Amino acid sequence: MRALLIGFFLIIFATGSAFGQTAASALPHLTRSGNTQQLIVDGKPFIVLGGELGNSSFTSVEYMAPIWPRLKKLNLNTVLAPVYWELIEPVEGQFDFALLDQLIGEARKNNLRLVLLWFGAWKNSMSSHAPGWVKTDQSRFPRVQDDLGHSQEILTPFSENNLQADLKAFQALMAHVKKTDQKHHTVIMIQPENEIGMLPVARDHSPLANARFNAPVPRELMDYLTQNRDKMVPEFQQVWAANGFRNNGTWEDIFGKGYHSDEIFMAWFYARYTEQIVAGGKAVYPLPMFVNAALNRPDREPGKGYPSAGPLPHIMDVWLAGAPSIDFLAPDFYFPNIKYWCDLFTRRDNSLFIPEHRFDNTVAAKAAFTIGHYQSIGFSPFFIESGEDEPHAIALGKMYDVLAQILPVLTAHHGQGKVEGVLLEKDKPFTDLYMGDYELNVKHSHTLGWEAGAGNADWIPGGAVIIQTGKNTFLMAGSGVVLTFKNRANPEKITGILKTEEGHFVDGAWQVIRHLNGDQTHQGRHVRIFLDDISIVRFSLYEYE
Ligand code: DGJ
Repeated sequence: MRALLIGFFLIIFATGSAFGQTAASALPHLTRSGNTQQLIVDGKPFIVLGGELGNSSFTSVEYMAPIWPRLKKLNLNTVLAPVYWELIEPVEGQFDFALLDQLIGEARKNNLRLVLLWFGAWKNSMSSHAPGWVKTDQSRFPRVQDDLGHSQEILTPFSENNLQADLKAFQALMAHVKKTDQKHHTVIMIQPENEIGMLPVARDHSPLANARFNAPVPRELMDYLTQNRDKMVPEFQQVWAANGFRNNGTWEDIFGKGYHSDEIFMAWFYARYTEQIVAGGKAVYPLPMFVNAALNRPDREPGKGYPSAGPLPHIMDVWLAGAPSIDFLAPDFYFPNIKYWCDLFTRRDNSLFIPEHRFDNTVAAKAAFTIGHYQSIGFSPFFIESGEDEPHAIALGKMYDVLAQILPVLTAHHGQGKVEGVLLEKDKPFTDLYMGDYELNVKHSHTLGWEAGAGNADWIPGGAVIIQTGKNTFLMAGSGVVLTFKNRANPEKITGILKTEEGHFVDGAWQVIRHLNGDQTHQGRHVRIFLDDISIVRFSLYEYE
């Protein structure tokens, strides 16, 4: 009986479902739904329709005052905002959260959630946000050195003092967020550090680092490699294979001589450092935590052509091995070719979240594409407060509005092969989707040739989320898309459009705005949303002889 009772209490404790801890009061967390990872906030699946503030904006109430209404106008549900080590711990051991409290209060008033970015030891490789008492005490807080022995304004990850000082401040932040926000859940995720990576050479050459470089590769990494030999990303497996899958020796013994070994070495120690920050932060207040990456330029040398050793796809196994407490690795986009990079980042079961994308005229389409195709946790252009009333900002606001409306339907269909996303660009304006029995042939609306802008040298991309809500019924939100159909189960028959409605969701219920037909469906030949129309359509299909 006693064992039964203990078991009962253990279950209640583990699930948090008794004594008033309802699903809605559980902390924001990640959970699996089919093959998708969902972010749960207040008991419901949540997708970040976000924007990241410019680096120096979240530093005063006055500066932020005119920005909040702009964020609302863009229909954001979440703001990604930095917290600066130098501002919260200006004097060692004395923490000041007054400004942060005011800003969290403003976010709450505006019904916005926050993802806090910890600008701690590293921000874009550098340590410019370390407090003055850290910067000015180089012997206590050592720096990385380049291959000529010159030190940089970058704290070395090989120093226990650096780690402990950063960790102490981060834990103080998490304790404060817990104390002031655990009932509200305004803060839903945390990004420790920002774009970690080594510059201007591929690895740290300080004495602390050199000692590790000449020592054997740690057993934890060797064990991970051995256990994951057939699962690791192929480009990393090839590096190890080239040296005969050796399983003991120094970094150069195992991975060979060259910048790639410097990068692997550095990635391991960045990951180990970050693991301690993340695990230490979660021990205080366990919100989901991710790290972001500055992408590498293909064929460039690590350290010189891009920040070496960040959480990048070609070394993601090193990060997974070294920092298992990180929930996912996230790409920042300032390059084109989003699909190429997202495909790389979603290997090894890594969930997609895009904390930064250049705020340009592709973001509306890419928000829809990534949220649909990768069932991502969210999307967030960088410097979101810029570009007020410019066409790309207006388009993003409209796209976030329609995405917010369909989110309950979308997340209810997550992980079952019923949600898709398309991105249609001038050099790739066609794509085919396979959903249930149907093949959907999707093209950019400019390919019709009738729409304003079709003759332009550059096309604004089209993008949409498509959800199969029943055997022959679909919901689509987006812009710049034209759909035609085939039934793969009945290839001898012709697929027709039974009904198309343009509408919106009011309190979760579908309301028709227009029944689309005639010119709006090319007399029943296709389902379409023009580029400027950013809207939601619901349609059903049928077959005829
Ligand atoms: C990526 C960084 O993560 C941001 O903080 C910002 O510096 C942008 N680059 C570029 O402005």
